[in-house]
Amino acid sequence: MNPARILIVEDEAILAAHLALSLGQMGYQTAGQAATGEAAVALALKEKPDAILMDIRLRGEMTGIQAAEAIHKISDIPIIYLTAYAEESVLQQAKITEAYAILAKPVRERELRAGLEMALYKHGAESQLRRLNQVLRAVRDVNHLITHERDPQALLEEACRILVRTRDYVLAWIGKVDPVNGVVQLTAKAGDVGDALTDAMAIRNGMGPGRMAADRAIQDQKPVIVNDIRTDPAFLPWRETADKYGVVSVAAIPLPPRKELVGVLTVYSDRPGIFGAEEVQLLTELAGDLSYALEALRDESAHRRAEEALQESEAKFRNVFQNSRDPIVVSQAGLHVFENEAYLQLYGYETPGELADRPVLDLVAASHRDQMASYIRLRGAGQKAPSFYESRGLRKDGSEFDTEIQASTFELQGRVHILAIIRDITERKKNEERLRQGIRELREAFQSSIRALSSAIEMRDPYTAGHQERVTRLSVAIARELGLDDDKVEGIRIAGMVHDIGKLSIPAEILSKPTKLSPVEYSLIQSHSLSGFTILENIPFPWPIARIVLQHHERMDGSGYPNKLAGEAILIEARIIAVADVVEAMSSHRPYRPALGPQEAMKEIRRGRGTVYDPAVVDACIRVISRPGFSFN
Ligand SMILES: [Fe+2]
Repeated sequence: MNPARILIVEDEAILAAHLALSLGQMGYQTAGQAATGEAAVALALKEKPDAILMDIRLRGEMTGIQAAEAIHKISDIPIIYLTAYAEESVLQQAKITEAYAILAKPVRERELRAGLEMALYKHGAESQLRRLNQVLRAVRDVNHLITHERDPQALLEEACRILVRTRDYVLAWIGKVDPVNGVVQLTAKAGDVGDALTDAMAIRNGMGPGRMAADRAIQDQKPVIVNDIRTDPAFLPWRETADKYGVVSVAAIPLPPRKELVGVLTVYSDRPGIFGAEEVQLLTELAGDLSYALEALRDESAHRRAEEALQESEAKFRNVFQNSRDPIVVSQAGLHVFENEAYLQLYGYETPGELADRPVLDLVAASHRDQMASYIRLRGAGQKAPSFYESRGLRKDGSEFDTEIQASTFELQGRVHILAIIRDITERKKNEERLRQGIRELREAFQSSIRALSSAIEMRDPYTAGHQERVTRLSVAIARELGLDDDKVEGIRIAGMVHDIGKLSIPAEILSKPTKLSPVEYSLIQSHSLSGFTILENIPFPWPIARIVLQHHERMDGSGYPNKLAGEAILIEARIIAVADVVEAMSSHRPYRPALGPQEAMKEIRRGRGTVYDPAVVDACIRVISRPGFSFN
């Protein structure tokens, strides 16, 4: 500990010299000697002594009391008066200037020692109290600030200002650790020393005494106190800089880490040794309060941001749906939550309020309420329900209409909501019905045309009357047995009904000739396939009817007519009709021979299986005919 430095203000040189000698013997150091009040004020400012021995009577303009008052205004140095005249009025005056002691001249050594020690101790205790008071006030002010400042940056900046203002720190700054590179970044600062000091202390970049203390405080998570940069070997490189800016001591207090926030509060003083345990304790509390406040603000603003985002998305949602031309309703637990203008119009309501909290089932026709209720229940329970279905709506005036509903679910504030888009399909339903009716009529007209065509040939050839119908029946049964699809079966049905239509071009005498045909007559008969094709080829069937008819006398081995097609080149429909044709013809009576019967017909197709007839078709045909209950009629 350095010896206390005492300024002697005494206009009598011998007395002054004697005082200096006594002080030296007592272990004090003389900070200087002044003979006038003016010189005393100047020296006190320059030397900043720990105490002043002040003679009341001085040569010159100023008395010792006036000099003490002047010093007192600018600095807090304990003053001990020396006086040869213990007059009451002088003593009263001296007391006003808060003298620590008044010693009578000539001063005895014992009294001087006691007076100085008492003054130094008292002053030390007082200034410590004052200091703590200042820090307490700073803490209180910052806490008050925390209660109303909602902007984190403003909070930190004002906290630094309070510290500098209330506690006379040269500089106060708060830094946060950059989560990316781990470097302390200056966040807020205060101090009337400008940027030069900030840079000199290297708060912003690189190294420096402030930075070094701050880094170490963050790393160790405990306060780092440098009570005198001038004597601390660790801070040797910055001694000169610190001296230049009047920085003597540093305290770096870590902000208690919370979530991602890691930071530090650093304060600088122009006096050594001021960061005692109590002050550090108070600063630590302050750092804790700031850290807590920052986190609370962050949570608050995160919450606010989330809420704003929610409101914004809700507004967008409403806007999109409100302006949609499709009627849209959002419901929750079966009750209306939101419905757009188009929805209100569709159901004949005027104002949204009319439907508020009303069950959506109120707008469903009684015939479809159970269906809708079960879908709502399933969706509410998080289970699957059709997302696209038809229903019936109920208007406000009680009228009903057909609807098509597209529904989906979404979660809002933890609750399942159903969003449904409703379409009025009354017109579509009508059109569909009209179309269905049209198709029915068309099909009937078509079928009667086919029947007319079919009977035209049979009228000219009474012996084959019913032949086409029976071939058709067997062909259809074989096609089904082979597993052909319904469309192909339908094609076979039409083709079967008209497969001999080409016989219209053959003279009736030849068709019904009871005797064997001549080769010319036979070739004329054979031309009926091609004639049939010619008659049918320009009719726009959805099936290849003309080609089936053309090919119904072709054979698998290429021995048929008219084009000697073979195998797969022959349509499956033609291959089926070919087999059915032969079986029916042999089973029936002909002008030139009696009926041979189904057994003979079976024998014939078995014989030709794989050569002239498609084996799969033959097998299917045999299965069909062998099945009990089969009949051509
Ligand atoms: Fe034929």
